[in-house]
Amino acid sequence: MIIAIDGPAASGKGTLARRLAEHFELRHLDTGLTFRAVAAALLAKGLPLGDEAIAVEIARNLDLAQMDKSVLSAHEIGEAASRVAVLGALRQELVDLQRRFAETPPGAVLDGRDIGTVVCPDATVKLFVTASPEARARRRTDEMLSKGQEATYASVLEDLKRRDERDSQRTVAPMKQADDAVLLDTTEMDIEAAFQAAVDIISKAA
Ligand code: C5P
Repeated sequence: MIIAIDGPAASGKGTLARRLAEHFELRHLDTGLTFRAVAAALLAKGLPLGDEAIAVEIARNLDLAQMDKSVLSAHEIGEAASRVAVLGALRQELVDLQRRFAETPPGAVLDGRDIGTVVCPDATVKLFVTASPEARARRRTDEMLSKGQEATYASVLEDLKRRDERDSQRTVAPMKQADDAVLLDTTEMDIEAAFQAAVDIISKAA
């Protein structure tokens, strides 16, 4: 069983993916972390985010078990990740890694931007999780403030819109709802309601 979850930043897809993996006893991969890990390694080496050859090399040696979410979740790393995410050869390398993860029994939940369209086009169930930019900006601002990070609603909203634009307009594997994905709009839902809705959709489809 493979559950593909795509959607924009701060849509709730990450929390949802983690909870669904627990519920259905599957492994979970947050594919955004793979792009973040490559971007963070380039930044640490002081190399430009467009250095595709080195980015591919970093991706080839990536150890999924070593990715540290607490470090990689930084706002600037998300921004840098969406810049490296336009590199076609890097995406190919990461897609291979993500597919191997998905296809290892008993299956997995993967969340990202192109899981239903590119990484796992034959997934058992596909969800496209979204929410209004305002709702997402409000959630992301609250989350950052609760971690003691600096954030203002206006700047978070602007950053999210810019990242959505870059992710949905790029030529390679743009963020897009797959034709056979079910749309889950969480604008008016808390995480519990979104989780219940997702379990219903998956139980019907699987
Ligand atoms: O989901 P997250 O915010 O961690 O993703 C960081 C960036 O990585 C996204 O803005 C996007 O550019 C890129 N990404 C992608 N394809 C994926 C997952 C993430 O292009 N499957």
